[in-house]
Amino acid sequence: MPDAITENDPGRTVLFLNGPNLNLLGVREPDKYGSTTLREVEETVAKTLSAHGLAARFVQSNHEGVLVDAIHAARTECGAIVINPAAFTHTSVALRDAIAAVALPTVELHITNVHRREEFRHHSYISAVADAVIVGAGTHGYVLAALHVAHLLLG
Ligand code: DQA
Repeated sequence: MPDAITENDPGRTVLFLNGPNLNLLGVREPDKYGSTTLREVEETVAKTLSAHGLAARFVQSNHEGVLVDAIHAARTECGAIVINPAAFTHTSVALRDAIAAVALPTVELHITNVHRREEFRHHSYISAVADAVIVGAGTHGYVLAALHVAHLLLG
């Protein structure tokens, strides 16, 4: 069994960042995003990480600057980032620059297969600064991202 890991151990804490409207996960367009709530996703992710001796920090915001601030804080407080930038994926140079600036292992994820959706969702400002991109796996994608981060951090 790994030692108990607290959020105070930066190298072993993973920032899970969710952008606008993802607070409504479970009720928002369930045909696309499913019926699992963000809270339920976070509980599953926390268990997955903890099985690998890792801790999670969860931040969801509808405000771009709050997301940028959370990425900056991760620079010294976290070992990796998993981000679903939601609609900001397709618009935000600021999020892209923040991720490039902190230079942490980063996984971009989308619940839906954005490439099968409207054309404006096909381009991501984030993908070029992400180490891995997970799309179309539903909310299970968050667990896949947690497992990949464990692999990146622990080998
Ligand atoms: C999303 C896809 C985005 O295009 C959309 O704006 C979202 C969610 C996804 O998880 O599939 O809000 O990032």
